[in-house]
Amino acid sequence: MESVNSAKEAIIRIRDLKKSFGDQDILTGVNLDIPEGSIFGIVGQSGTGKSVLFKSIMGMISPDAGRVWYRDTELTGLPYQKLVEIRQKFGYAFQNAALFDSMTVGENIAFPLKEVLHLKDRREIARRVREMLEWIELPGIESKRPDELSGGMRKRVGVARSLVMRPDILFFDEPTTGLDPVLSETINNLVVRVNRELGVTCILITHDIPAAFRISDRLAFLHRGTIVAEGTPSEVADSDHELVRDFIRISFNELNV
Ligand SMILES: Nc1ncnc2c1ncn2[C@@H]1O[C@H](COP(=O)(O)OP(=O)(O)OP(=O)(O)O)[C@@H](O)[C@H]1O
Ligand SMILES: [Mg+2]
Repeated sequence: MESVNSAKEAIIRIRDLKKSFGDQDILTGVNLDIPEGSIFGIVGQSGTGKSVLFKSIMGMISPDAGRVWYRDTELTGLPYQKLVEIRQKFGYAFQNAALFDSMTVGENIAFPLKEVLHLKDRREIARRVREMLEWIELPGIESKRPDELSGGMRKRVGVARSLVMRPDILFFDEPTTGLDPVLSETINNLVVRVNRELGVTCILITHDIPAAFRISDRLAFLHRGTIVAEGTPSEVADSDHELVRDFIRISFNELNV
């Protein structure tokens, strides 16, 4: 039986995406359909091109070939101004995403409202910042500085800064890297809440394979420039691709060491 998700419309469609840096071929033909409203996990070995894939989807890197659509709009080849407009629908919490240390938490979250949406009403801005901090369960920390926060709190504030724009899609690149297991769990739960409570499609790159299998509706395994397995967690776990099976087995075994 076809899963519910695959019947849903793709919010992001990628066809034959290619990207090289010099003589290094990183993406050699990526095809993906990311269903609207899903949590979509992207896993694969370090250095295999997951972050490059993300940046290519968002138009921060221009691919050498291939096409990317957001709903009915083709992003590849879109004039810069149009791309900037559409990117307002995308939020991202990047690998090592830094908050601005010279600003307070409140100013950090307000930043996209002022600089991207050009909101001027200070009370409206303050209200939206307060709402976001309540939503990430860190109410009232507007006047704190990022260096006064723990790593996990900083990550959550980073998520709040992306969510304040009310994106359609939130891209997470390794949101739990460098966090202890308990904090990782908090962030993984936050991804689930973003998806379930706010209806935001979440695209999640993670090294945490067990978490990816637990929270993703669908998963794609990137290897040597292409997607070698894609489907629901159980479909990917049953993949006959040897590397995928090994990678999963090793990742789950590591839990028991
Ligand atoms: N702007 C760039 N210029 C040149 N090479 C790059 C650039 N960005 C990425 N690369 C190379 O592309 C390859 C893939 O990098 P990428 O960051 O996408 O890996 P990744 O799968 O995200 O790895 P990790 O799991 O460690 O984050 C690497 O060899 C990297 O050195
Ligand atoms: Mg990366």
